Amino acid sequence: MTARISRLPDLATFTAAALEHVRQAAQKAVAQRGRFLMALSGGTTPLPLYAAMAQQGIGVPFDATFFFFGDERFVSMGDPRSTFGAVAPVLFTRAPIPVGNIHPMPVDLTPPGLAASVYEEDMRETFGTPPGETPRFDLLLLGLGADGHTASLFPDSPALEETARLVVAVAAPTTTEPRVPRLTVTLPVVNAARQVLFLVGAPGKESILARVLGGPPDKHLPASLVRPQGGAEWLIREG
Ligand code: 6PG
Repeated sequence: MTARISRLPDLATFTAAALEHVRQAAQKAVAQRGRFLMALSGGTTPLPLYAAMAQQGIGVPFDATFFFFGDERFVSMGDPRSTFGAVAPVLFTRAPIPVGNIHPMPVDLTPPGLAASVYEEDMRETFGTPPGETPRFDLLLLGLGADGHTASLFPDSPALEETARLVVAVAAPTTTEPRVPRLTVTLPVVNAARQVLFLVGAPGKESILARVLGGPPDKHLPASLVRPQGGAEWLIREG
């Protein structure tokens, strides 16, 4: 895995480094293609970055930026477990982002498989991706679970075998919380991204980090299957 790893000593330096990654990706995307297509990740680690994006900006106009999600818990947006519900108050309500540029996963649609298909079409339409091609995010954020999952790609999940669909519904995980059904982008989408940035709050994750970064691709460790062209960036917060 051609991973580029940066270890930061504390939250302030970690957040500043992450914001700089976002800004560089945004400015490159807008310069080359006139817009910035970003996939946000869930969990708690990225929330300070989202707040910093809203407070300090991302170096490009927010009206040129389109926010998608790499995954979502299949609960209502008002549920405390909702990723959108956690992100909205620190980013979307704090920055001049046109509402049409925000693409939450449609957790109000059932069954979850339908929600996944609808999100896939939203992605294809927004990206303008021809059939048979894979949409390419300019920047896709990921976290790392203690079980080696990333997004909602869980150890040994059938979703890891998906090669055609861009978004799938997955059963509630048994190795991590919250144990609710999820929607997730698939590995073709992750590995097609122009940049993949892992944000890891390391305290307590050194062992899984060593296994993911030090070994071969392994379906027991889904994060090890993330192999975008040019490799992934890892920002690891040590304090
Ligand atoms: C989620 C995320 C998940 C998360 C990791 C790390 O819905 O929880 O998609 O993949 O990124 O579990 O979470 P922390 O950043 O909170 O450690």
